[in-house]
Amino acid sequence: MTNQVKIFDTTLRDGEQALPASLSAKEKLQIALALERLGVDIIEAGFPVSSPGDFRSVQMIAREVKNSIVCGLSRALKPDIDACGEALKVAEQFRIHTFIATSDIHVGAKLKKSQEEVVEMAVNAIKHARRYTDDVEFSCEDAGRTHIDYLCRMVEAAINAGATTVNIPDTVGYTTPTEFGGIIQQLFNRVPNIDKATISVHCHNDLGLAVANSLAAVEQGARQVECTINGIGERAGNCSLEEIVMILKTRQAMLGMDTNIESSEIFRTSKLVSQLCNMPVQSNKAIVGANAFSHSSGIHQDGVLKAQNTYEIMTPESVGINKNNLNLTSRSGRHVIKHRLNELGYKPEDYDLEAVYSDFLKLADKKGQVFDYDLEALLFFDQQKHDQ
Ligand code: KIV
Ligand code: ZN
Repeated sequence: MTNQVKIFDTTLRDGEQALPASLSAKEKLQIALALERLGVDIIEAGFPVSSPGDFRSVQMIAREVKNSIVCGLSRALKPDIDACGEALKVAEQFRIHTFIATSDIHVGAKLKKSQEEVVEMAVNAIKHARRYTDDVEFSCEDAGRTHIDYLCRMVEAAINAGATTVNIPDTVGYTTPTEFGGIIQQLFNRVPNIDKATISVHCHNDLGLAVANSLAAVEQGARQVECTINGIGERAGNCSLEEIVMILKTRQAMLGMDTNIESSEIFRTSKLVSQLCNMPVQSNKAIVGANAFSHSSGIHQDGVLKAQNTYEIMTPESVGINKNNLNLTSRSGRHVIKHRLNELGYKPEDYDLEAVYSDFLKLADKKGQVFDYDLEALLFFDQQKHDQ
């Protein structure tokens, strides 16, 4: 089994679905080109049958993107698949992604079909999609709540029908990592033709476990992760691309997995998606939040100044952030003040560190955060006191 994990980005489909207003075709193209630069293997560009606008933007992305596979979503229905085939045919490389629900709740209450009928619909859809391309992905919607016997049967039938990727979504973010990893493990143990397809996972974040569940699945043999930039998506969102990618990279020695992602493009892409989608990133968000590489406590600041990896498990540069940020507050020590003054061009002989530090603490207690210009003013007043 390969140790390469494919990154399937669905920011433009599942992510966009969650926005109060749709993105324009131009904005979608801008994001698609950023995803291509990031090294995403597959870009899910949209759901072509859903509207003429979505059809056109999928087509435009298919035309412009050269280095990633461009994918379109379709229900297990011929008109949906035809719309995908039509919109994607201009692409250098494309994939048709078709899906149908497999859990009892969805099969009974939503589809109002028998399990047999649903298998038949899936098989027919996959065969129909194969007329357009050899690259067909099939998803068992709500797989996380699907009975394992039926899930095994469906996966086997999908692969026999020609699906080259089979996706196991935890559509409602219900499972826990041990449970979800166990589902993937059972599929590998019980589905006889499983090695003929790539097993993919698509986890939602309703319980905050989307990344942990995706990782558990990769540890059990899944080799495609579906995710979105900043974790945007339906309800609480999807597995966050930047988090799963940086887990695989940072813990590569332990996990033994790799991706094609150019991690130094992560921050730029995150900012673009946040701005165009009008969705601010929470400051303590892992990898891309404003505080992800900020240090406030004096002990931590002193530590990172001595050796960066005392309190940083990855470098800011590795995700495209210029440098870490050392907040000057009443918790800061002399070491960081000296370091910041040095960055601002002052030599130790230019000031009396004890005097400046004592004034700094008084100011920090009053005002909270001390900025560079405050520090320079302190230095100036200290100098004046000295000259009098
Ligand atoms: O969450 C889900 O099940 C989906 C499928 C369409 C893959 O988004
Ligand atoms: Zn989804």
